[in-house]
Amino acid sequence: MLKQQRAKLVVGNWKMHGRLAANAALLQAVVQGSDEMPADVRVGVCVPSPYLAQTQLLLEGSRVAWGVQDVSAFTHGAYTGEVAAPMVVDFGATFAIVGHSERRAYHRESAELVAVKTQRALEAGLTPIVCVGETLEEREAGSTERVVGAQLDEVLAKLSVQEAARLVVAYEPVWAIGTGKSASSEQAQAVHAFLRARLAAKGAAVADVPLLYGGSVKPENAEELFRQSDIDGGLIGGASLKDQDFLAICKAAAATSVAG
Ligand code: PGA
Repeated sequence: MLKQQRAKLVVGNWKMHGRLAANAALLQAVVQGSDEMPADVRVGVCVPSPYLAQTQLLLEGSRVAWGVQDVSAFTHGAYTGEVAAPMVVDFGATFAIVGHSERRAYHRESAELVAVKTQRALEAGLTPIVCVGETLEEREAGSTERVVGAQLDEVLAKLSVQEAARLVVAYEPVWAIGTGKSASSEQAQAVHAFLRARLAAKGAAVADVPLLYGGSVKPENAEELFRQSDIDGGLIGGASLKDQDFLAICKAAAATSVAG
């Protein structure tokens, strides 16, 4: 099979997991393992905000980037409990997941709010990882493209071409998240190709933004997924909490990378 031209990116989404001691062990193992990765495989972890300082301390100077799982739609002010994008930049973070389906579902985040959060992340200099994905009912009703297309369009509409070119987009079918039931590589590739066309329609500079797949990525299915022509890596939940699994997924990215 032809090697892809785009670099691979694997990002862990720890969700609301981790404590100081466990984080230290996990981060140290990931740093060690990532040293062996080819240069065109990028690795990142998105941690709970209270652990940003610890993460910065342990990852600074390593190959592993870090970020958060959400940012506020505001830059500062009387918004109790919120974390602003410039605050996370203070801790060396470079990524911010926005619009994860857990936030859309459990925190009632609208497509409009996700778009505003994306703008705040970009303004602060972060790389937003914008998540889109359909529920099982939506897939079964044949609405996948309509749903993910609308989610992406809402974000793209608020951005210039230059801003949109700085995004990472993650396709995460809701029915595949944390369920152990990944999308097949064909299902994922079909949606990625659709999203790629949508991005390209925004402008040529946007066509090559990294498109990650997320939803029950494991060492056993990662390579097959990452070999698809429009899948540039993964957003990894459960498996990112186990160093050996996460590193095995990074190795799968390496095996499918240009240099791998
Ligand atoms: P999962 O989660 O890998 O545990 O399915 C992915 C995600 O929600 O980002």
